[in-house]
Amino acid sequence: MTDIAELERQLTAAIAQAGDEAQLEQVRVAALGKKGSISELLKSLGTLSPEERKTRGPQFNGLRDRITTAIAGRKQALGDAALNARLAAERVDITLPVRPEPRGSIHPVSQVLDEITAIFADLGFAIAEGPDVEFDDYNFTRLNMPPGHPAREMHDTFYVAAQDDSAAANGEAAGQQKTRNVLRTHTSPVQVRTMLKEKPPIRIIAPGRTYRVDSDATHTPMFHQIEGLVIDRETHLGHLKWTMEEFAKAFFEVEKVEMRARPSFFPFTEPSVEWDIRCDRSGGQIKFGTGDDWLEFAGSGMVHPRVLELCGLDPTEYQGYAFGAGLDRLAMLKYGIPDLRPMFESDLRWLSHYGFAALDIPTLDGGISR
Ligand code: PHE
Repeated sequence: MTDIAELERQLTAAIAQAGDEAQLEQVRVAALGKKGSISELLKSLGTLSPEERKTRGPQFNGLRDRITTAIAGRKQALGDAALNARLAAERVDITLPVRPEPRGSIHPVSQVLDEITAIFADLGFAIAEGPDVEFDDYNFTRLNMPPGHPAREMHDTFYVAAQDDSAAANGEAAGQQKTRNVLRTHTSPVQVRTMLKEKPPIRIIAPGRTYRVDSDATHTPMFHQIEGLVIDRETHLGHLKWTMEEFAKAFFEVEKVEMRARPSFFPFTEPSVEWDIRCDRSGGQIKFGTGDDWLEFAGSGMVHPRVLELCGLDPTEYQGYAFGAGLDRLAMLKYGIPDLRPMFESDLRWLSHYGFAALDIPTLDGGISR
C-alpha cells in the first residue's frame, strides 16, 4: 500500500521546486493526470472492501484536494513572478532626458513670436489671424485710406491677380468686393476683420507676414509684424502707454524701461503715437534704462472713429487703441542680428548660429528667452 504521507511530502516538495509553469504542469500530470499517482490511488478504491473504502476514500480525496490547492497556489505565484520579471525587464525610465542633441532649431522670428505671444497671453489677449492675400478694402479703405488717398502710396504695395474668396461671397464682405488682390502691407487689416466679426470688448494680437516692394539691409519684400487691438467703452491712451511699457519690459527682460512718446501719423489712428525706448548702444550691445540713444519700438494710436464706423462699431459707444511693431526688427534688436536679409535665406549655418533650442518653449515663469 502506498504511503500516503510520503507521497504527499514528495508531491509538495516537487510543487515547491517547480521553477516555471511548464515544470509545474509536469508535476500536476504526474499526480492528477489520467495515470497520475493520485488518480491511480482513487482508481484503486474500487478494488477495496467497503470497510477499507470508508477510511481510505476520505484520505485519498483529501490528498487530491490539498495537492490541487497547492498546485493552484504555486501556479499563481509563478505567474506573478513572471509578470514582475517582465515588468522589470520592460521598465522605461521616464525621468531620463529625451535625446540630448535634438536636431534643428527655432528661427529667431518664431522664437520672438512665441515670446510675444506668451507676454500678451498673460495680459489676456487672444490671437487673431488674417490671410496674406487681402482685400484692398480691408488693407486700405476701411483703415481710412480710400482709393486715391496719398497714404496708400507710402505702402509700396504688391498687387496680385485677384483671388476668389468664397468666405467673402458668403457674406463676410457682403456688398463689398469679392476678390482679394493685395499682399497685405501690414497686419492692420486683421483689426478690420476682428471688428467686423466680434463685439467689444476686443483684446487681440495678430502676428503674421506682411509684404512691401522694398529691399535693402533693413528691408525685405516679406517681413513680419505684430498687431495689437483693444476696443472697449473706456479704453484710453493711458492703457496704451501701460501696455507698451509692460510689453517692452517683458520682451527685453528688464526691470525698468524709459519710454518716449512721439507724435506720429497713421490714417487709422488719431492721435497717433510712436514709442521709443531709452538705450545705450555704445558698448556694441544694447542696454536699456541708460544712455542717450532712442530705439524705435512700435507705432500706435487710438483707433480712428472713422475706422470704428467703417468696421460696424458705434464710435460714440466704443473706443480703443491699436499698435504695430516689426517682429524681425525686434528679433534683430534683442538677439544682436546685424542684417535682416539672411533671416529669410534658409542658410543652415546662419540658423544654427542664431537659432534656438527646439525644446525651450518661452514661458513667463520659465524665462522667455533663457
Ligand atoms: N500698420 C502700421 C504700419 O505698418 C503700424 C500701426 C499699427 C500703427 C497699429 C498704428 C496702429 O506701419
